[in-house]
This record gives sequence, C-alpha cells and structure tokens, in this order.
Amino acid sequence: MLGKDQPVILQMLEVPGEGMKKLQGVKMELDDSAFPLLAGTTMSSDPHEAFGDADYALLVGARPRGPGMERKDLLTANAKIFQLQGSALNEVARRSCKTLVVGNPANTNALVAAHNAPDMNPENFMAMTKLDQSRAEGMLAEKYGCSVDEIDRMIIWGNHSSTQYPDISHASIKGKWAKSVVDMKWYESEFVPKVQKRGAEIIDARGASSAASAAAAAVDHLNCLHVGSGDKWQSMGVVSHGEYGITPGLYYSVPTLCTGDRTYRKIMGVPIDPYSAKKMNTTEKELLEERDGVKSLLGGSFEKIV
Ligand code: LMR
Repeated sequence: MLGKDQPVILQMLEVPGEGMKKLQGVKMELDDSAFPLLAGTTMSSDPHEAFGDADYALLVGARPRGPGMERKDLLTANAKIFQLQGSALNEVARRSCKTLVVGNPANTNALVAAHNAPDMNPENFMAMTKLDQSRAEGMLAEKYGCSVDEIDRMIIWGNHSSTQYPDISHASIKGKWAKSVVDMKWYESEFVPKVQKRGAEIIDARGASSAASAAAAAVDHLNCLHVGSGDKWQSMGVVSHGEYGITPGLYYSVPTLCTGDRTYRKIMGVPIDPYSAKKMNTTEKELLEERDGVKSLLGGSFEKIV
C-alpha cells in the first residue's frame, strides 16, 4: 500500500469481547505470514489507543449492509461510530493523518468523522469510491476486450451509493474516446445501473458484502495518495469547496490526480453536459438528505471548509 520498502505498524481496533477474540486470530495470521514490511502489530478496543500517532487511518469497521438494504439504511447505526472515531483521531492521531472511510454510508460517515475532528484538515478525510471506479473499469475492459490499464479518465461522481454517477464522457478506452467506442444504449440502460448496484449484487450472491475487492480498492486508493497515480485519474469522495456547483462541505466523489506527496488535486474544468449535470445533481441531493439525517452529529454547523 505504501510502496515496496515502507515498513508499517498495524494498530488494529476491534469491539470488545467476541470482536477482540477474532482479532487475536487475525494477529496470529499476520505474525505467521512473516511479511517483511510488517514492523509490528497492536490490538485495542479503544480508538484513543489504536489511533495514537497514526499516519493513515482506514475506517472499515461498521455494521455491514444486508440483503435488501440500501447503504443509507445504516446511517443512524453507523454515524455514531464515526463521530467517536473522528473525535478520537482529533485527539491522538498525527495532525497530518490521512483517513479513508470505507464503512457505509461512506461519504456521510466521512462528513461525520471530519466534523468531529475540528483540529484536522477536512481534506485529509476521504470516502472510498475507488471500488466503484474499479468496477466500472472492469466492466468496460470485459466488454471491449482490453486490459483495465487501457482505460483512463473514468469518473465516479457523488455518493458511494446507488445514485452515484459512473461517467464515461471523458474516458478513453485503448486511447480512443470512450463515447466513440461504447454502445450508448448499453451504457445508459445496463452499465450505469450495474455499477450503481454492484455492491447489492455481491451481497445477494455471497450473503455478505464485498470484502476482497473493497480491500483491494482501499489499498489502491492509499497507494495512489502515498506513491502517486501518474497521470491516471482517480475518483475520491472528498470535501467540496463548491467545485462543479456541488454544495460546499459535502464529501462528494470527483476525479483527482495524486502526485505522490500524500495529497490529491481535484481535476477542474471538466465539461459537464446536461445528462451528466442531472445525474450529478441526483447524487448530490441524496448526500444532502443523508447530511440532514446526521445533523445532530455535526457539531451544529454544516459547512466546514479549510
Ligand atoms: C460495496 O460497494 O460493495 C460496499 O460498499 C458494500 C455495500 O454495502 O455495498
């Protein structure tokens, strides 16, 4: 995740009781794997201990979605976890700590965590939409017979939810403009809904939410941030400052470039056609509704802008 020669210490957080027992098993497996870059492991059920001096925080612990549920159905159950974790990060993590929120509803959980970490830069909190980008690239690669590496500029706009907008308007496939290659009827009626509902499809098949692909996407996201993504666009749910007309303060997925200095730069000036504008607006509306649902956990103010 952090490059080929960066040792890491894993400070693992679990809930007390059964959770800690299972974590013992995970620790044993980590020890037994003899990973050369694993410089240590710790276990705790207290976020104030687990997040101590953290450089990166991966917030993956949340109640997972079951069959038939939307991610926002987890709002009340999970937002409180992120309130506590945001506040613990604020107290004990490094000021420069980068926090990736994976637990759902990820964008709004990132909002809650950032609001409860008033001494930290809101830009250091991110919600994961890399998984959606990877899903979209995987589907295009399969349909058009190429490698995922031959696809670029695939954008996920908005929420990591069934309202997200997987946008190919600026994408390239094997160096050609995607819109000159892709069957637009297939794109609108099959591709977009499939990407939007891929998480639910996996839950139906496995009886549990995605695990390996979500982990791979989390690793990829932080790898881009730490090591750099070259000139490949990366979608990330990051705090809005009003770019593309999106309400400031929302954690909204946009295309970024990462230069490898632990920061991202939003790609600006991407032309938005009326079809895209409508879709971007729908997913923004859902994020505003989610934000209203956690208002009491935001410390009284909606906008938290650097
Ligand atoms: C996913 O997209 O697979 C995860 O966010 C799990 C879920 O709830 O869909």
